[in-house]
Order: sequence, then structure tokens, then C-alpha cells
Amino acid sequence: MASNLLKGKKGLIFGALNERSIAWKVAKRAVAEGAEIVLTNTAVSIRMGTIDELAKKCNTIVIPADATNVADLEQLIDRTMEHFGGRFDFMLHSIGMSPNVRKGRTYDDLDYDYLAKTLDVSAISFHKAIQTVRRKDALNEWGSIVALSYIAAQRTLYGYNDMADAKALLESIARSFGYIYGREKHVRINTVSQSPTPTTAGEGVLGMADLMEFAESMSPLGNATAEDCADYVLTLFSDYTRKVTMQNLYHDGGFSSMGMSRRAMRTYEKGLRFEDVHQNQYLTDEK
Ligand SMILES: NC(=O)c1ccc[n+]([C@@H]2O[C@H](COP(=O)([O-])OP(=O)(O)OC[C@H]3O[C@@H](n4cnc5c(N)ncnc54)[C@H](O)[C@@H]3O)[C@@H](O)[C@H]2O)c1
Repeated sequence: MASNLLKGKKGLIFGALNERSIAWKVAKRAVAEGAEIVLTNTAVSIRMGTIDELAKKCNTIVIPADATNVADLEQLIDRTMEHFGGRFDFMLHSIGMSPNVRKGRTYDDLDYDYLAKTLDVSAISFHKAIQTVRRKDALNEWGSIVALSYIAAQRTLYGYNDMADAKALLESIARSFGYIYGREKHVRINTVSQSPTPTTAGEGVLGMADLMEFAESMSPLGNATAEDCADYVLTLFSDYTRKVTMQNLYHDGGFSSMGMSRRAMRTYEKGLRFEDVHQNQYLTDEK
């Protein structure tokens, strides 16, 4: 299905931990579409995950960097430019982590040091990465920057905890910096609001399996997979979306526009569990 959509383009991809990561799928698809990439993650994630395997497949290098550390980001951008022999065209921020979620602290019992860490890792790192590439003038004119978000930035979803606040900030940074970078260098900045997806970060969310079932039953097109997400992100790196900027773009099978689906309603009417409904062909056809 590859059609050289990104031929001649170069990009930096944050956040591939293992083959389930959304960033992993984006990296593979970007290379299949003709792009050259550089991969980055924290030193710990590089050790714990399998990013080196991905680097081999994508014929590239991995540069360690903690995205909350500006000195790390500076050396990352310098080394990326060295690798490419100059500027590059796109950047993916695919980073999220909440110590409150990890330690089971609920939203009405947050640890504020953990909250600061959640915001720094999951949102402010996006600002830091953009500010660093801009200061180093590392992106070509009409470049594209994308970060991954979730609908909990707009709607309250039980269990998403302080990550909801982080995603709201992330989306705001895309707008605020999108104005500055767009005006100056026609660089566009968007967030993609993805369906719940079974990745390492995703599985940390309270009640993830039920959340996925609910989203699936509510979405006329069904949940978007990590592979679907990669395809969508590639279009945002391509020249076909040059005037799209400062947007939060839902990539969720229609979930964000739904109030109640027939399928979900049937589940409640009958007091059935979602999985029972899914096994019934008559009801499965009713989205
Ligand atoms: N999985 C889902 O359901 C879902 C839904 C919507 C949005 N997202 C978003 O997609 C993005 C990618 O997550 P994923 O689901 O692929 O999970 P993942 O666990 O594979 O990826 C998260 C990545 O963040 C990296 N990271 C954490 N702290 C970092 C730091 N300080 N510096 C640099 N990197 C750091 C991790 O090493 C990991 O590679 C996240 O922003 C997540 O919130 C995920």
C-alpha cells in the first residue's frame, strides 16, 4: 500500500518503547513511505524496551534523551541534524506517563509532586521539544509537528486521572506554539486524539479493557488501532496537509461525535455485559 508519500522527508520520532507503541508503528510506516527517521527515547526505556530492533529495521540510530531535560533535547537535536546533514521536516511527540496513575493515587487524592511530573513528562516536554528545535532552527519551512492526545482533554472519563489535565495542556501548547511557528516558518503543529489503544501506556489506565469495549460499541467505525493512527499521522507529515495547523484532530472511529449508540443502549437495556452483546450477531451489526 506504500506510495512514497514521505519521499525525501526526514523526521525525529519520540516514544517507541516496543512493537505495541504507536510511535513504533509511525516509524515503520514513515520509512515504508520513503522517509528517513531518527528515533529517541529515555535511556531506561531504551534498555527496558526493544527500540534497537526497530532502529535496525528502519536502518537508523537511536539517540537517548529525557524529553523533560532541555540539555538532553539540545544534544538530541544537534545529533539528529548531524545525522541528517542539516534540517529535518517532521517530529512526533508520542510520550505519556503519570506517577499518580502508576501509584494508584486517585484524582481526589493527588500527590502534587507526581502531578508536576505528569505535566512535565506528558505535556511540557512538548513545549521543550518545540522550543529547542525552533531555537536551533532545526525544521525546514512547511515542517510538521504532531503530538498524541486523548479525548479526556475535553470530556471526563473515569480513571484517566491527571493525564486528562496533561492532555488539555498538550493541546493548548499545540495552539500557542502553532501560531508562533506557523507565522515564522510555516511549521504546523497539531495533536491527534486517538482511540484507546492496547499499548504499555494504555494498559496503565484504570479499567482499560472496559473503556476499549465501551469506545468500540460507541464508535460507528470501531476503535482506531495503532496502525490506523500511524497512517493518519503520516498524512499530517505529508505535503497534503500543509494548511492544517493548531488543531486537535480526532482519530477515533467517530466516538467523539457520539452521544449514545444503539449498540451501547441495547447493552444497558438488557443488562448485558459488552462481551455478551458482541457475541450476538444481531446486536453486533447494530453500531
Ligand atoms: N494507548 C492509548 O490508549 C492512547 C490513546 C490516546 C493517546 N495516547 C498517547 O499516545 C502516546 C504514546 O503512548 P503509547 O500508547 O504508544 O504507549 P507507550 O508506552 O508505548 O509509549 C509511551 C512512551 O513515552 C515514553 N516516555 C516516558 N517518559 C519519557 C520521557 N521523560 N522522555 C521521553 N520519553 C518518555 C516511554 O518511554 C514510551 O516510549 C502518549 O502520549 C499517549 O498518552 C495513547
